[in-house]
Amino acid sequence: MQKLVIHGGKPLCGEISISGAKNAALPALCASLLTNDTLRLKNIPDLKDVTTMVSLLKQMGVTILTNDTSEMELSAAHLTNPIAPYEMVKTMRAAILVLGPLLAHKGEAIISLPGGCAIGLRPVDQHIKGLQAMGAEIIIEHGYIHAKAKKLVGTRIVMDIVTVTGTENLMMAACLASGLTRLENAAREPEIVDLAQCLIKMGAKIEGAGTDVITIQGVDALHGCMHDVMPDRIETGTFLTAVTASSGQIHLKGARADMLDAVIDKLLEAGAIINSEENWIHLTMNKPPKSVSLRTAPYPAFPTDMQAQFMTLNSVANGTAIITETIFENRFMHVQELRRMNAEITVEGNTAIVHGIPKLDGANVMATDLRASASLVIAGLVAQGETVIDRIYHLDRGYERIEQKLVHLGAKIARIN
Ligand code: EPU
Repeated sequence: MQKLVIHGGKPLCGEISISGAKNAALPALCASLLTNDTLRLKNIPDLKDVTTMVSLLKQMGVTILTNDTSEMELSAAHLTNPIAPYEMVKTMRAAILVLGPLLAHKGEAIISLPGGCAIGLRPVDQHIKGLQAMGAEIIIEHGYIHAKAKKLVGTRIVMDIVTVTGTENLMMAACLASGLTRLENAAREPEIVDLAQCLIKMGAKIEGAGTDVITIQGVDALHGCMHDVMPDRIETGTFLTAVTASSGQIHLKGARADMLDAVIDKLLEAGAIINSEENWIHLTMNKPPKSVSLRTAPYPAFPTDMQAQFMTLNSVANGTAIITETIFENRFMHVQELRRMNAEITVEGNTAIVHGIPKLDGANVMATDLRASASLVIAGLVAQGETVIDRIYHLDRGYERIEQKLVHLGAKIARIN
């Protein structure tokens, strides 16, 4: 198994480019299931989750051409097998995103139920409830969701909780339903807006994406289009946090500050100086960071996908921070690893109290999920001595060429087998 070895203590300085967003690329790839025409996607990041989604779509019969590493052409004209097997769904929960488009376009989908995962239970009841309200017949048998519908019918759906992939699944399904669908209490994440923009280019009639009420007027068919996937706001936030923790300086090309307001506000509070324009962000940190308390919540509030990275920042900040996680019930797995590096963190329920110390101590630690891995990389970068991170396959699911980018910023980091 591969590991990362980091020799910490050097400030990160330099310029890098931000990759396409994992959580926008995955639904966009699934949108190809809504048409028999070719969907051309640009700015697709080279990540393990993307490779898994491509394998899943290919085994269903989708033809996929990769022109260069970041461009793909997908055609579902000859789809034969509307099945997402357990082996694939268990490695990547976003596989549930094939459910809505398959059902709407092909009338049938057989998708393995995702189990629990490292960060929480993560049920998919809202996806199922929404599709049933649109007339789908759904049976759950032997761990699989069997869904059928001759033609979905638009309706009003009020979601019990705000769900990102739930909103995406129902929005995709509603594009080919008859009549009007109104999704209330919809998620407002920028990735939903990006997917809606792709679907609109494919001929969908969607209004309100980015607000909590999305209306979709169903059409008979969608067509092909070209879509450029948005930049990854969580990769952007991760690099900004790493540079703030290490008291360095960074210029991020292709990054969008307007999608990261809550994170940027917290970095400013920690003492960073930040400038930005439409497609770049520049951050300078010339003093030790101050502690910042935060509470995760759906967009536009502070993202759960940045909570672990801020746990590390607070571990080396001046003062005490209170971090409350409200989205996932088990997203503090990185705490025990950070404690191995001498971090002073106590957890009470969904709240962590972090007393900052001047320096973390390098140690052997284990990654437990994607964003926890990122927090450990930042910890290694600001720790004294050597840190070895095990199980870094989690990191490869969501950060494109992370070591290369960090080496470019002056980090001492290497992958070993
Ligand atoms: N939930 C339900 N029922 C549902 C759906 C969700 O109870 O039917 C609960 C979940 O258990 C959770 C909360 O609702 O407690 C929010 O979950 P959500 O459905 O929004 O999460 P998701 O769509 O499965 C996406 C991202 C995650 C990100 C969350 C929250 C993708 C592919 N994944 O997951 O990204 O943390 O939204 O913003 O878009 C990551 O990239 O590391 C990652 C985990």
